[in-house]
Order: sequence, then C-alpha cells, then structure tokens
Amino acid sequence: DNYAVIMAGGVGSRFWPVSKTSYPKQFHDMLGTGKSLLQQTFLRLSKIVPSDQILILTNSEYVDLVNQQLPEIEKGQVIAEPAMRNTAPCILLSALKIYKENQKARMIVAPSDHWIEDEDAFASDVNKAFEACSNDNLLMTLGVKPTFPNTGYGYIKFKYNDTEEVKTVETFTEKPDYPAAKTFLKSGNYLWNAGIFIWKTSYIIDEYRAYLPEMYSVFEKHLSKLNTQEEQLFLKQYYPGFENISIDYGILEKANNVGVIEASFDWSDLGTWGSLHTQLPKDENENVSINAQSVFIETSNTILRTSKDKIAIIKGLDDYIIVENEDSLVILPKKDEQEIKTIRNLVMEKY
Ligand code: GDD
Ligand code: MG
Repeated sequence: DNYAVIMAGGVGSRFWPVSKTSYPKQFHDMLGTGKSLLQQTFLRLSKIVPSDQILILTNSEYVDLVNQQLPEIEKGQVIAEPAMRNTAPCILLSALKIYKENQKARMIVAPSDHWIEDEDAFASDVNKAFEACSNDNLLMTLGVKPTFPNTGYGYIKFKYNDTEEVKTVETFTEKPDYPAAKTFLKSGNYLWNAGIFIWKTSYIIDEYRAYLPEMYSVFEKHLSKLNTQEEQLFLKQYYPGFENISIDYGILEKANNVGVIEASFDWSDLGTWGSLHTQLPKDENENVSINAQSVFIETSNTILRTSKDKIAIIKGLDDYIIVENEDSLVILPKKDEQEIKTIRNLVMEKY
C-alpha cells in the first residue's frame, strides 16, 4: 500500500546556464554520475515502493523528457501539469489519484533534485516514517541538522529534549528571515525540513479539506475524472486557476499533527553551485572539476563545469564558479552565487 510521488516541475534557476527552463536541473547529471538527478531519485525510491507505484508530476513541457529518461515507466505514471502552481496543487492531485486507486494507501512525496548518498539509511528512515503514520494521523517529515542560518529552508521545531525516534513537531516555519533563522540555529531543537513527506493518503486529503478548502472543492467536483481519459482536460481547464502555493506554506505551517525523524543520511538539496562544490570530490586545493580535463594553477576552492571533455586551464582564481555550456559562459565569485537568479533574468531580457 506504499506509493511514491516525485515532484519534478521546478526550474532550478540558480543553476543557470546549465539548468534552463527548457531543460531544468533535475534532468541533468549534476554530479557527473552518469545519471540525472531524476533518474537517481527514481532508483532510490524504487527500492522502497514498487516502481509501478511511483508517480512523477511535472509541467506538460517536460513530459517527453521524463519519458526519455525513465523509459521503463507506464504512460499513466507521468502526470502533466498545464501550469506551474508550486507544490500544493500537485501533491493534492497525486494524493487524490492514489486514493482513488487504493484507499488504504500511504505515500512518500519527494523532490526530484536532491543529493542523498546513503540509500540504505534513507530507506530505513522512510520505512520508519511509513510505520509511524500507518496507524496515526501524522504528517511525517524528515529533518536535517542545520549548520548555518539558511533562509531558503523550512525549519521544524520539535519538543525540547524529545529523544524519541519520531519526534512531535511544535511549529513549522517555512523560509524564515535571517534573524529568525539565526535564533532557530542556536536553540538546538530545530531541524531543516528536507522537503520529503510521508503520510496516509486519506489524511493528507483531510488536511487539504481543512486548510486549502477552495483548492480541495474544485477537485471534489471533478473526482470522477481522475485516472480517466478526461483527467487532462479537467487539468487544462482548472489547474491554472489554482492558488500558487507550496505545501509548506499551505499545509505544514498550519497542521497540528506533524512528526519528524532526524535523517540518518547525509543530504543536500543541491540548491546552488556552492552546495555542489561541497558535495563533490575535490583536489588538494579544494577545487572541483566537472566534465573538463582541468589544470588548476595557484587556484583554490573553485568549481568548474564545462560541457563534456573540454580542456580548461585556470590560474589564480580562488573561490570562483566557472560554468560553461554550449551557448554561455559564467564566471562569478562563489560568494555571489545567490545572484545567479537575477543575472539569469537580466540575460533573458537582453538576449
Ligand atoms: N510537479 C511540480 N510542480 N513540481 C514542482 C513545482 C510544480 O509546480 N514547483 C516545484 N516543484 C518541485 C521542484 O522541482 C523540487 O523538486 C520540489 O518540488 C521542491 O520545490 P522547490 O522550489 O525546490 O522548494 P524549495 O527548495 O524552495 O523549498 C522546499 O524544499 C526545502 C528543502 O530543499 C521546502 O519544502 C522547504 O521547506 C525545504 O527546506
Ligand atoms: Mg529546492
């Protein structure tokens, strides 16, 4: 009765110019492993649930890419969203589809673009979470020990001194401002939300009914169309009208029955070039090179990515991001990595 949902509809704009709207990050082999992040996610989850019970939700634009990268899946496993409306609508849609097929179902919802090295530890944590929510009405999250006041994450506050494996969550704060994130970090009873959720399908549907009733009621009127030939038509007509909101703001911040398991695996959401630098093997001067045959001279802490098999010589550039692909070249101090989003938008306006 366990299902999985992979969210693969984001744009990954901080990895521009490699990640593009036409070919976002999750479809790239960001780590140079020979597999895209989506392919890795699918493999990781197929060790936990039967692979024909994995749904992939993505924008209509990316359906062909998903099918190319995962040729083993059935047509019905890829669901096309006609508009980008963030994660709340896409999770409700998948929950209702799964519930219609199996009312006893539980589901794991996972992003398509993260790095998790220890797959056995991941599977064991997820199975514990499945167990925790099989009898109780609990929204289970996986938490990661925070290491710096990142304002791009959700923060999960658990009961102080709660040493249970499944901890009770007191509050969930999505993307706090910097002072709040600093306070959370100091308190010791906060974890980062890894963005992976586990729950009973019937329970998450109840939560939508309570906290996002407008969204829920549109689906409710058209339940008969889900999992039939009429589904796409219904989505085309109504999906663009849904509120653009993430599950974190829409449900998790408001819900009362949230639990957390502290992840026993190393995790990164590979949000930026700098985080990629942290994850990958480095030379003796902490340089990372992806795809290129590179020679670093008097250079340290730099990450270089080129299109396949280039030769690159870098001298005297500490703490830089250097990214080249077929049509663009970006050279940027690592400390300014968050600016890539803005730079990308500037470039898009100009060219
Ligand atoms: N199908 C679909 N449709 N997927 C989407 C959409 C959409 O409209 N929007 C985003 N996604 C996918 C992204 O591709 C990603 O895999 C996942 O949903 C999460 O979206 P992000 O946009 O990356 O969210 P975030 O990073 O700002 O925040 C979330 O993840 C953090 C950890 O990485 C939150 O859950 C935070 O609380 C969490 O800390
Ligand atoms: Mg993210």
